[in-house]
Amino acid sequence: MQEVMKIEGGHELEGEITISGAKNATVALIPAAVLANGPVTIVGIPQIADVANLSKILQMLNVEVTEIGQDHLIIDPTNMKNVDLTSDAVTKLRASYYFMGALLGKYGHVKMKMPGGCYLGPRPIDLHIKGFEALGAKVKFEKACYSIDAEKLIGAKIFLDIASVGATINIMMAAVYAEGRTTIENAAKEPEIIDVATLLNKMGAHIRGAGTNVITVDGASNLTGCFHEIIPDRIEAGTFLIIAAACAKRMVINNVIPQHVEALTSKLQEMGVKMEIDVDKIIVEKADHLTAADVTTRTYPGFATDLQQPLTSLMTQAEGQSKVVETIYSERFKHCTELNKMGANIELINSGALINGPTPLYGCTVQATDLRCGAAMIIAGLIADGVTEIQNVYHIDRGYCEIDKKLEALGAKVWREMAE
Ligand code: EPU
Repeated sequence: MQEVMKIEGGHELEGEITISGAKNATVALIPAAVLANGPVTIVGIPQIADVANLSKILQMLNVEVTEIGQDHLIIDPTNMKNVDLTSDAVTKLRASYYFMGALLGKYGHVKMKMPGGCYLGPRPIDLHIKGFEALGAKVKFEKACYSIDAEKLIGAKIFLDIASVGATINIMMAAVYAEGRTTIENAAKEPEIIDVATLLNKMGAHIRGAGTNVITVDGASNLTGCFHEIIPDRIEAGTFLIIAAACAKRMVINNVIPQHVEALTSKLQEMGVKMEIDVDKIIVEKADHLTAADVTTRTYPGFATDLQQPLTSLMTQAEGQSKVVETIYSERFKHCTELNKMGANIELINSGALINGPTPLYGCTVQATDLRCGAAMIIAGLIADGVTEIQNVYHIDRGYCEIDKKLEALGAKVWREMAE
């Protein structure tokens, strides 16, 4: 038996929703908080399974975690113990690897299992490791565990072959206490990196340049507790923008930083979606006609790979042939097989997909093969005729905060059941 999500499609949505704190910032902010020597309060924590798993890891480290209300977390590492992280909680999410940088930075030693997360094709962490080594650490990989040790971390110049989000954040965290200056060149520029650097600087770190491709970290001697509010989730905002474009009469999406979703909003406008972009909200009106478009995923500020899968569902409703090219994760196309089961006409090409539309979609049983595939299935289910059953729904719960409630508030028919 497993829990499945069911969606009865074809209902026109209308109303307002508020976007939660950014998952991909949160999952780095929580490990970053352990670098402090006092309590860190983080506000805007989304209720997602990844957060629950990170809290478990904090508890293993004897870090005191206090939840206040729905979205406040106080993380107090005052009595922390640097134990080996070899439990399964580590393998349940990708972001557990941020404890590598945080624990190495604070104690000069970390031992942990290989991180997990969505399968999107190969996801090596060689750049993280090279960064730690450049700071003076020795890295061993034995029996599915990394052991990373440094007598002393010394600032270094590190050039990332790929502008990796994870490596940029992990190296930043490992370097906050290192002696001297660390320079990360070809750093990733995603908004979540700025958010993590902001938290660390509030704690007393000296990080400059976050949000550009050169980040410098000057070693600090002590980091203290602080208060921080997480940025809105640009991927959740993007998902709801696409849902609105697919099936809403009118939707008001609150708590958005429009600049963070510009690559998507301009693409949607090109496809014929009407929207009004305000300072911190976006209002989407029903489109009379959607036209096909081409999109290529890029690092920020380019089109986010995490929105490529949800957008594909919308493209099945656009007139003409759309093309999606994936440059970050070449195998992130499992959603296309699922969409084809529902009646889409998608052809897979090398690192890309050709979507021929419009095609009616019909409810059937599909898999959320990964988190954003799950989002793509929700969108398709909302459009489809009949009932769609989404299996492996735990992937969706890893990253979308109260998605059922938010959809129901907009008038969608969504429920969960236990199924074979
Ligand atoms: N890469 C390497 N070596 C490394 C690190 C990355 O070759 O050491 C490659 C990856 O295989 C990939 C590319 O570099 O081809 C970019 O990977 P990156 O490190 O930037 O991604 P990530 O940190 O593992 C984060 C998000 C992903 C999001 C990507 C790209 C988190 C926890 N995850 O992953 O989010 O797709 O950045 O923006 O922040 C999601 O939310 O669904 C998700 C998968």
